[in-house]
Amino acid sequence: MTEAHREDRAASFERGAGEYHAARPGYPTEVVRWIVPDDAHDVLDLAAGTGKLTAELVALGLHVVAVEPSQAMRAELVRSLPGADARTGTAEATGLPDGSVDAVTVAQAWHWFDPPTASAEIARVLRPHGQVAVLWNIRDDEIDWVGRWTEIVHRGDTLTTRYEEPALGEAFTAPEHATFRWVAPMRPADLRTLAASRSHLLLLPDDEREALLDAIDELAATHPDLRGRDQVDLPYRTECWRARLV
Ligand SMILES: C[S@@+](CC[C@H](N)C(=O)[O-])C[C@H]1O[C@@H](n2cnc3c(N)ncnc32)[C@H](O)[C@@H]1O
Repeated sequence: MTEAHREDRAASFERGAGEYHAARPGYPTEVVRWIVPDDAHDVLDLAAGTGKLTAELVALGLHVVAVEPSQAMRAELVRSLPGADARTGTAEATGLPDGSVDAVTVAQAWHWFDPPTASAEIARVLRPHGQVAVLWNIRDDEIDWVGRWTEIVHRGDTLTTRYEEPALGEAFTAPEHATFRWVAPMRPADLRTLAASRSHLLLLPDDEREALLDAIDELAATHPDLRGRDQVDLPYRTECWRARLV
């Protein structure tokens, strides 16, 4: 896996904003409360995408700046959250002033960043003792049909993503970790859209992508836990880390 390919994958979301917003899960309120300090007011949601986490932060009454490099992802965010403060920027160059936010959140995106540069940028925009949180929603592949879905969407994928403690550097306290378990109800047909929103599929040639999506449809139509159902519960755990500026 070359760095150039990783960058292409990071940029692939520009092609799949609609699928992303339609199919990806949000975040339970207990997660959102854990990742932001009780006394926070101004929050930077970094790599905000289509606003899945931004919406939950706004719902808690926080003032949120959403920074996202992809124009298509930002457009979905503004469509679903009219009036949101959505700005162009990256984790390495947010464009925010020094010491301007109480908290920074990074959902499903730390693996696309350059960690040393992103950590320094996050430390720069945080107020003294401000908090950063890094989190990922991870499917429970121990469930048979979920494991089969995962096997299909990873066919031919050479990128390994580690959902592990972020290397935030010495500007931050040692990260605290928490795991939250929950389920996302969805229609079996949505499993195709969820697959189509993934960076690996977004970059595949059309015929190869269609072959994987057809395999997902076949799974939904034939697996005993999926076929004929109106709704299924996709089990997730959200792995979260939070750390304060020293
Ligand atoms: C999987 S999406 C996560 C979106 C949103 N946080 C969520 O939880 O749904 C990853 C996002 O990271 C963005 N991204 C990729 N590289 C980035 C970087 N270097 N800085 C900021 N955002 C980046 C992509 O454009 C994409 O919108």
